[in-house]
Amino acid sequence: MALAAGAGMLEGVTAAGVSPIFVGRAEQLASLAAALATVRRGEPAAVLLGGETGVGKTRLVTEFAERLAGSGRALAGGCLELGPAGLPFAPFTAVLRQLARELGAAGVGALLAGRPASELGRLLPELADPAGQSDEAYQGEARARLFEQVLGLLERLARIAPVALIIEDAHWADRSTRDLLTFLIGNLPDVRGLLIVVTFRSDELTRKHPLRPLLAELGRISWVERLELPRLTRPEAAAQMAAILAQEPSPAVIDSVFRRSEGNPLFVEHLLGCESMVPASLRDLVFASVQRLPEETAELLRVAAAGGSRLGHALLTRVTGLAEEDLARVLRPAVAANVLLADGDGYQFRHALIQEVMHEDLLPGEHGRLHVRYAEAITADPTLVPAGRASVELARHWSAAHDLTWALISAWQAAAEAGRTLAYSEQLGMLTRVLELWDRVPDAAQRIGADHVSVLATAAEVAELSGESERGTAFVTAALREVDPAAEPARAALLLDQRAALAAQGHLVVSSEDLKQALRLVSDGRHEAVRARVLASLAQLLHKQNADEQAHAAAAEALAVAREESEPRTQAEALLTLAVLAPEGAVSAAGADVLGLLAEARAAAEEARDCGVLIRAAISESHVLEGLGEHVRAAEVARTGLAEAARYGLSRTSGAILAVNVAEPLVAAGRWADADEVITRAIAAPSTGPHRSELWRLSGTLALARGDLASADYAAGRAADLLAPTRYRAESHLPHRQLQIELAAAHDQAADALAVARDTLATRDLQSSPRYSWPLLRAVAQVAADVLARPAAARDAADADLAAGVLAAATEQAAKLSVHGPVQVALRLTFQAEAARADGTPADGRTLWWAAVAEWDQLGEPLPLGYALYRAAEATLSGAAGNRTVAETPLRRAAEIARELGANRLLADASRLARRARITLPGEPSAAEPTEPPAPALTPRETEVLRLVATGASNAAIAAELFISAKTVSVHVSSILAKLGASSRGEAAAIAHRRGLLAASD
Ligand SMILES: Nc1ncnc2c1ncn2[C@@H]1O[C@H](COP(=O)(O)OP(=O)(O)OP(=O)(O)O)[C@@H](O)[C@H]1O
Ligand SMILES: [Mg+2]
Repeated sequence: MALAAGAGMLEGVTAAGVSPIFVGRAEQLASLAAALATVRRGEPAAVLLGGETGVGKTRLVTEFAERLAGSGRALAGGCLELGPAGLPFAPFTAVLRQLARELGAAGVGALLAGRPASELGRLLPELADPAGQSDEAYQGEARARLFEQVLGLLERLARIAPVALIIEDAHWADRSTRDLLTFLIGNLPDVRGLLIVVTFRSDELTRKHPLRPLLAELGRISWVERLELPRLTRPEAAAQMAAILAQEPSPAVIDSVFRRSEGNPLFVEHLLGCESMVPASLRDLVFASVQRLPEETAELLRVAAAGGSRLGHALLTRVTGLAEEDLARVLRPAVAANVLLADGDGYQFRHALIQEVMHEDLLPGEHGRLHVRYAEAITADPTLVPAGRASVELARHWSAAHDLTWALISAWQAAAEAGRTLAYSEQLGMLTRVLELWDRVPDAAQRIGADHVSVLATAAEVAELSGESERGTAFVTAALREVDPAAEPARAALLLDQRAALAAQGHLVVSSEDLKQALRLVSDGRHEAVRARVLASLAQLLHKQNADEQAHAAAAEALAVAREESEPRTQAEALLTLAVLAPEGAVSAAGADVLGLLAEARAAAEEARDCGVLIRAAISESHVLEGLGEHVRAAEVARTGLAEAARYGLSRTSGAILAVNVAEPLVAAGRWADADEVITRAIAAPSTGPHRSELWRLSGTLALARGDLASADYAAGRAADLLAPTRYRAESHLPHRQLQIELAAAHDQAADALAVARDTLATRDLQSSPRYSWPLLRAVAQVAADVLARPAAARDAADADLAAGVLAAATEQAAKLSVHGPVQVALRLTFQAEAARADGTPADGRTLWWAAVAEWDQLGEPLPLGYALYRAAEATLSGAAGNRTVAETPLRRAAEIARELGANRLLADASRLARRARITLPGEPSAAEPTEPPAPALTPRETEVLRLVATGASNAAIAAELFISAKTVSVHVSSILAKLGASSRGEAAAIAHRRGLLAASD
């Protein structure tokens, strides 16, 4: 048997040997190499590698990392099995430590040159800013910034040479690590040369395992590939045995070991030493191999196991009380037998299972005593554990030792420590522990120097930061029960304010009762700063409840008081609310005023150093500019905000809103390709909620204009799914209704379109939001006019009745609806022109359509401009005074605009009209359309693939969408091209649209 050096002193010890030869796995290595090639090309890639315990995930990534040497850098870190007292961000700390070791402090410093490293110092104190602690002013965003800095560091490193970041054992990942991983993977498109590989035990993923939803979420991202590592085949297992034994095993051994191991290489290793034994489980197997170690070694391993799966040499020396040489002697067999791995200054169990088994082997009394010993050793000398970990370790040991007082104290300290590393969910875990122990520890408040209410309030704050609004609400409510408002009015008011914020975060139906009560508590003139803050919160809430007048009064007062009290953050909040409240269309005349308010808000937010508020300002400003029809500026402001949000790692939350604010003006301005890019990228990033739904809605609107109804249907469906669970907001729901109406009409289902229109007009309050109501009314009028303008013979009587009713209701709404700014002026004109078309009064129509042309031209919105030109031409042609020569120019221009945009529906309409009027459009054959051969038969799968090809999706994206491999996709695509006689994907898409190949199915 091949044993490590020093086998001479290990007589009688048989333990698992490791195969020096890496067996099989050619396919998986090739996949990893392909992913690396992808990131080398500058495209994003990540691999999720699953496999059962011991199947060889670590070995595979280690071998891959070794093959990387010279051409790239591998950074690896593993998650640890530590339960609720876990070390947040553990794998990232390990990665940073590796980097610091490899590059030296100076090398890392060079990577960080000129950039704040403060947040990284939270993970690895060596990297802390020597100038002092990080900027506490931005505490709220510090976690986001930490994420951003980790990404930035990796990005700069990857610029030197490609980097493979390997995060192992994600099934043990704490919430913070999972969040950071999601963030990094979501942002890969912005980073060149970074490959992320995540390994996890697929056999540990129980139904409720927290990694499951994450894997599902990541799996939907087009650049994420999932690999499942299978067991070894029989010849592979035989090769592994031969390599371990350094000689060919007998067929009988191969047979017995393969049968019992089933090809799991870890089993193979362990079974090879004990062919006769039949283990009930891997656990027994591991246990058996440890039992063959000398008793003093096994005893020491039990002691070590209580310390965790990795522990330092000094700590072990202290706890065992053994002298250096003795410790080395006792441990040597364990190291030689591959049970413990020794590195620079500590030990690690080679397999977590071994640590578990040894820890369980302790007797109950022994168990408690040992943990006390660890706790005392760490208390006496905190440097025995890695910097920043002492309190977490102590909390774990005191809890295990059932010492409640010390468990409470150390949990409190550990909570503070977790807060410093921005691991909110771990911090919350520790605070919960403090609260659990509270009643069982006399003098708890004195012990930790904080009373019960402040522990509750802190817990609520942390819950808010980690997005757990329901738990947060429960904490505040408990705190409020203990505070006497008469004695401590400001404290009670702040708690009430906090509860209102939590309720708003949770999208609950929010009442203003808490805030009003808070206000009563601090209205005695002695707590003005608190009063300003509560007023600002109240203003926001009242605005959400559509009580705009009261909201305005509250915001104005909040602003005045906050100015007096020099509270810039409250000022910024109040100013933003005032800006949003300015009558929508303060846009034209008073538009400047709104922009002034926003500029002031931005300045205050900068002074308060609150990037959350800063981003809110960018959102509001781009929104106002878009309302003014200033599409280009709106897109610019939103784009800057988007960059800002990304810099603070807030791309998931604020990023989705800002992406909508970038894309919407681009769509309006006719920059559809740019809009596509923004939308595609934002949709690919993981986010949820109403803003994601708006991204899909915009994507549907574009597809519809392009005449790609299948994609438009798909996008509208996604938008509807995302919107369903959210509460009604005019800005999301009305445009969505509009898309549904337009889509049904495009499918020639006028009755459905009109039914949705009728329902919307009857049930939604259009008057309070002209910005979203005008576009909707215009669309409704268009559908109604399409029905009513048909020649009587072609008209369905029921449809016509419905259309007339809907148009009447719409006209009634339009008559009352206010008009703010040039966009709404153009929309109203268009609405009126559609109504004239429905009435069949071409003379009025002509004038109105030409007026609309002028407005849209002025605004630089090519699609409605092209449409108005087309209708103007139509109105010119119809009626007794029909005039072909006059109609020719607008019709040609409409067709040109449509062709340039790729607005195929408008182009088709214009061409049809041109044919009827015998006008020849530029670039179009004047002869009758050539007859095409019958449509080729595509399989249903090919139709699905073609539909996605038509959206411009890549093979990889199609593969992800249909859950097939990219290779299969490319086979389908070749077959489709052949069947359609197309030479490119673009051409195939064009043929598909022209011949309606995508419309039929579903
Ligand atoms: N292809 C291989 N060739 C030779 N030895 C292998 C191979 N794959 C795995 N092994 C060996 O099998 C043992 C278990 O492998 P490894 O630790 O990589 O499993 P794992 O999947 O990471 O397990 P865990 O889920 O416990 O982390 C190791 O000693 C490893 O060296
Ligand atoms: Mg492993």
